[in-house]
Amino acid sequence: MNTETIKIFDTTLRDGEQSPGASMNTEEKIQIAAQLERLGVDIIEAGFAAASPGDFDAIDKIAQRITGSTVCSLARAIDADIKAAGEAIAKAKHQRIHTFIATSPIHMEPKLKMTPDEVIRRAVHAVEYARTFVEDVEFSCEDAGRSDIGFLKEISDAVIEAGATTINLPDTVGFRLPFEIGAMVKEMSEYTKGRAIISVHNHNDLGLGVANSLEAVMNGARQVECTINGLGERAGNAALEEIVMALKVRSDVFGGLDTNINTKEIYPTSRLIATITGIEPQPNKAIVGKNAFAHESGIHQDGVLKHKETYEIIRPQDIGLDLSDTLVLGKHPGRAAFKDKLAKLGFTLDDEALNRAFERFKILADRKKDIYDDDIRALVTNEMTKATQVYEIVSLQLMDCSEGVPSAAVKIRTQEGEVMDASIGGGTIDAVFKAIDRITGYAGRLDEYRVKSVSEGKDALANVTVKVSFNDEPSIIGHGLHLDTMLASARAYIGALNSYLSMEGKLKERPHKVIL
Ligand code: KIV
Ligand code: ZN
Repeated sequence: MNTETIKIFDTTLRDGEQSPGASMNTEEKIQIAAQLERLGVDIIEAGFAAASPGDFDAIDKIAQRITGSTVCSLARAIDADIKAAGEAIAKAKHQRIHTFIATSPIHMEPKLKMTPDEVIRRAVHAVEYARTFVEDVEFSCEDAGRSDIGFLKEISDAVIEAGATTINLPDTVGFRLPFEIGAMVKEMSEYTKGRAIISVHNHNDLGLGVANSLEAVMNGARQVECTINGLGERAGNAALEEIVMALKVRSDVFGGLDTNINTKEIYPTSRLIATITGIEPQPNKAIVGKNAFAHESGIHQDGVLKHKETYEIIRPQDIGLDLSDTLVLGKHPGRAAFKDKLAKLGFTLDDEALNRAFERFKILADRKKDIYDDDIRALVTNEMTKATQVYEIVSLQLMDCSEGVPSAAVKIRTQEGEVMDASIGGGTIDAVFKAIDRITGYAGRLDEYRVKSVSEGKDALANVTVKVSFNDEPSIIGHGLHLDTMLASARAYIGALNSYLSMEGKLKERPHKVIL
């Protein structure tokens, strides 16, 4: 049987980052890209270069690091966007520009205020211009799901002629049902056969993103755009792990169609994304949810004990989940055992990062009774994704009593030495963040604050995620990890500030006086 490969185009770093609360710093994006490469995705959409200097910088760094996957940037059909995309991916071994314009009446008329002919002209120019940077150009008909099929054919002819090699048909608002997507993809893939690859990008507004993607594959799509854990704008995108595992588990139906994904990297990738974004998959989420392999009822447990396949269609180890190994190591493992554990969890660290992670692990092991895989993941991810430490929390002292005024004294290591200051606040967190503001000179606006325990037990690590806006610019995410929730909060706040300062030119603008 001839095997055809379905290209997996991962857009976790672009559409996924558009999930509310999912923005990531450059270091985090680089780590995610490296993991996506290990996972075996064909194309990594690393971001939208023209969106901000931070996005550009992250794509540029990913382009320099990734060699196994194609690195792609999104660009509107606008010269400035395409130029930014071309420059951001210029150092990648395999490069792609993904340009798009809307093709549905409801987008062309009220939103773009353009006629269909103008849209075609703009699309052709965008593709021609993109081809001056790269050979691999993808063109997306935004809102293809609600576009006229005749118009989709007309614009596809024009952009293929201009040099596009992939035509993407997004169901941008997740409106279509599987049979409708199937019909559209069948007609378009037959129409463009031998001239371009048909791709799909299905949003999940009706919970049909994955079903629509599979139906598209059945009908000729040879590229699927998707995200880890189904992250994405609004209700998200089709989940990569569900599409890939459906193709694998039901190879009897999809016979001859395969992907380049190493499914054993699915679970580590899902955990990395959840740890970094702070967005956990729902417990009953297919493939990667906490309960996806938990058998609760007695009848099911009995069946599984007798013969696993009575109630299991996927073996946990096929997605890289080792259920027998949740409790980690002894109390005082050596560095070699720790390194071995990290390798099992999918982390490869250079010596310096390994030493730092090991030091943090030892401190944790002294204070926490049981340490789980998730603790290790959180700890290492936190270590690996730190932006340059312009500021670092040295110590924190709190006074919070129901009767009195909450106050916090914070000592911070700065580039000029250690500085201490204190503040009162409406509550303890308010006092802590204000004390930090007094030292750094930034009055951050807290847009979001979340705290989550990493694993189990009263002594669980607290994982705090904050979104903070500095100088009224778009908010930046920060993570803090500690057994003490207040210290984790302070670290998260400082983490956001360090990420902000790691952006191009920001360090130069650093204020030198404290806020009084
Ligand atoms: O949903 C969508 O239409 C998109 C395009 C930019 C591909 O994300
Ligand atoms: Zn999208």
